[in-house]
Amino acid sequence: MAIERTFSIIKPDATKRNLTGKITAKLEEAGLRVVASKRIRMSKEQAEGFYAEHQGKPFFAGLVNFMISEPVIVQVLESENAILLNREVMGKTNPEEADEGTIRKEFALSMSENSVHGSDSPESAAREIQFFFSDDEIVG
Ligand code: PPS
Repeated sequence: MAIERTFSIIKPDATKRNLTGKITAKLEEAGLRVVASKRIRMSKEQAEGFYAEHQGKPFFAGLVNFMISEPVIVQVLESENAILLNREVMGKTNPEEADEGTIRKEFALSMSENSVHGSDSPESAAREIQFFFSDDEIVG
């Protein structure tokens, strides 16, 4: 398997509780390498564009408001099989269903305040990385 890149967000519930180091440590311990990282405050337009596929769902407005409520850390992660590996370390969207040892089991508060986002396919990874990073901000 070739080296792959995925996109990650440390969400507002986690930055607010000062968990960015603990979460990044879990990613690194799993073998993911942080090749780009920045702390940003997402605009409403960015959050709506990023989550455009969920437009129309009942949780959309709440999700957008949550994502702009506090700063987030956007990251590009790299490893073999990075997309799947990151999804495994994150755990399921609903923290009650997440496996022991996953980030969401340990830190997430609810379906929405679930501490991390990770791309779910090569297509989303490519779109999401480009959404927040230019090529020269990614240093492998
Ligand atoms: S879906 O509906 O099956 O496509 O949902 P999923 O891909 O698992 O995740 C949707 C993202 O929206 C956030 N969110 C919620 N999902 C489901 N239900 C509720 N109530 C909800 N509130 C917020 C969820 O955290 C997912 O965010 P990301 O950043 O993609 O992980």
